[in-house]
Amino acid sequence: MARDFVVEARAAGVRDQRVLDALQAVDRQRFAPPDAGWRVRRDAPVPLPCEQTTSQPSLIALMVEALSLGPGSRVLEVGTGYGFQAAVLAGLADEVWTVERWAPLAAEAHTRLAAYPNVHVVTGDGADGLPGQAPFDGIVVAARCAEVPSTLVDQLAPGGRLVAPVGAEGREHCLVIRRAADGAGEVGAEVVADLGPVRFVPLVRG
Ligand SMILES: C[S@@+](CC[C@H](N)C(=O)[O-])C[C@H]1O[C@@H](n2cnc3c(N)ncnc32)[C@H](O)[C@@H]1O
Repeated sequence: MARDFVVEARAAGVRDQRVLDALQAVDRQRFAPPDAGWRVRRDAPVPLPCEQTTSQPSLIALMVEALSLGPGSRVLEVGTGYGFQAAVLAGLADEVWTVERWAPLAAEAHTRLAAYPNVHVVTGDGADGLPGQAPFDGIVVAARCAEVPSTLVDQLAPGGRLVAPVGAEGREHCLVIRRAADGAGEVGAEVVADLGPVRFVPLVRG
């Protein structure tokens, strides 16, 4: 029997009702391959073409909550897949930019996100972000980074947050990094939370 993803997200620690409402509003089936079968109704990863996956909805909700998006936010997602997380973000942010390096996945996401006019799907390497669209209030990376991606931190607005799985394969933790501006105008970044161990496909350049 299908579990309610909101119940799973609450159990995983998500408390922000706006995030839970945004999660509830998205039909996961629409962002999964037609042959995904029963898996799409479970709070578990689902395989995508090109040897990629879409993460479990509760983890996606945790990462979205960690962005602490306020009204009028602009967000960048690196790693679109079929667009599930982008659709959740669309319920919270004014503008969502999402980058996917696999053209077949980006094409699927483009079609599946057509009903979300505030989402822009870009095909290409998102490892260096989208400097032409920066700054962003939040950046979420849906692929494992070997280290904190400083190029992406540089594309955050002051006070903005980056959420990313960081670390060696099999040992990555989902970190929340906040960009802060000090009184002198100098900009720094600090890890403000560790959401714990996670497993993600790698961020691949090119
Ligand atoms: C876990 S999946 C994304 C799941 C997706 N966010 C969702 O909601 O289902 C990670 C994605 O990151 C993509 N990716 C990996 N390296 C990338 C890069 N440098 N630029 C853009 N996308 C990348 C992969 O192709 C894959 O589709």
